[in-house]
Amino acid sequence: MLEGKKVSLYVTGGIAVYKVVDLMRTLIKAGAEVRVAMTESATQFVSPLTFQILSKNEVYINTFAEEKPEQVNHIYLADWADIAIVAPLTANTLAKLANGIADNFVSSALLATTSPIFTIPAMNENMLENKATQANIETLRHRDIYVMDTDEGFLAEGYSGKGRFPDQRRILDELRTFMRDKADYLPLKNKAVLVTAGGTKERIDPVRFISNDSSGKMGHALADAAFINGADVTLITSSSLPVSGNIKVIRVESADEMHEAVSSRFESSEVLIMAAAVSDYSPETISTKKMKKQDHMTLTFKKNKDILKEMGRRKKSSQCLVGFAAETDNIYEYAEKKLLEKNADLIVANDIGKKDRGFNVDQNEVIFFSNQHEPQIIPLKAKKEVAQDIIDWIVEFTD
Ligand SMILES: Cc1cc2nc3c(=O)[nH]c(=O)nc-3n(C[C@H](O)[C@H](O)[C@H](O)COP(=O)(O)O)c2cc1C
Repeated sequence: MLEGKKVSLYVTGGIAVYKVVDLMRTLIKAGAEVRVAMTESATQFVSPLTFQILSKNEVYINTFAEEKPEQVNHIYLADWADIAIVAPLTANTLAKLANGIADNFVSSALLATTSPIFTIPAMNENMLENKATQANIETLRHRDIYVMDTDEGFLAEGYSGKGRFPDQRRILDELRTFMRDKADYLPLKNKAVLVTAGGTKERIDPVRFISNDSSGKMGHALADAAFINGADVTLITSSSLPVSGNIKVIRVESADEMHEAVSSRFESSEVLIMAAAVSDYSPETISTKKMKKQDHMTLTFKKNKDILKEMGRRKKSSQCLVGFAAETDNIYEYAEKKLLEKNADLIVANDIGKKDRGFNVDQNEVIFFSNQHEPQIIPLKAKKEVAQDIIDWIVEFTD
């Protein structure tokens, strides 16, 4: 979502400036190009050099330090950005923004900014609760400037209260939703999309299980891609990979739990993408105590419920069902059979016999099987990009 985005980062003079260094690095790691402007007060807390070195760009502070005759810096920065972020936002700069004051580089550039503005206030609790500050926050929100709620917790003053700079995870979640909702067109807007991910674990005893090599990366990338395209996403996963707060996550372990989680939500979903590698079998009995070492041991297995097949049977014409086929041989034959037998709309087949694609790696090469087209090869690329191709297919199908 941040990849290739031009972010102007406005830093004002609060104690939380040091946290913004880390936030900036996260934005850059996510692919954003960041340019920083600071107020004089902000430079009291962290040296502009830190922001300059880490952003690899000059830091704007003085409105009148105009070294390039061809541009006026504060207007240039305002026009350049796809999104402006103010972090931390002091009570003082907040008041300036609410009143259209432009008396330093930051406030002048922000007044000239027409791109979306996302602000992260942080201040002493009494400053925050002052009626003037609350009125200023309301004013900004009415003008479609995003103002995050602060966190509650230990403050620099040595006591607990409101006004803390929010946790970075929450900042990124809210920023992602804010940026997504600013897009002109979201093809899956308000669509309920259910995604499954990961290899299920089938318990043998309290400390042992059988599973497979699926990491959950493809399913998690699909959940992200569906979110970016506007969907309300629920991810049912057996993987321990992190999930952004914008996605509702249900953690499961076994095929049985996966079945229950999917089955109870299928009715209310418009799209189901079954990227999980659900075990076909599970031990007939699960020992309640750790099994002791023996010379020979035989385990008997029972067949698990076929979730994709059951959902294929229950599917209404308004729903879209996508399944995966992980194969080591006869990919075309098995995938075409699966498409038919499971009543799926799309089968995404991948060759898991090769080391550089499929299970547990960051890239994939897949073939799309559907009733609409001849098999379509999606060449080797990042799972994130494959996920977008799958979402594009779903958008076309559901249109
Ligand atoms: C040690 C210290 C910490 C401060 N922390 C904050 C803060 O967290 N939030 C805030 O709004 N102001 C804080 N201030 C006050 C601002 O620095 C002051 O209001 C300043 O005028 C803000 O200028 P600016 O908005 O141009 O950056 C702090 C001041 C000091 C001396």
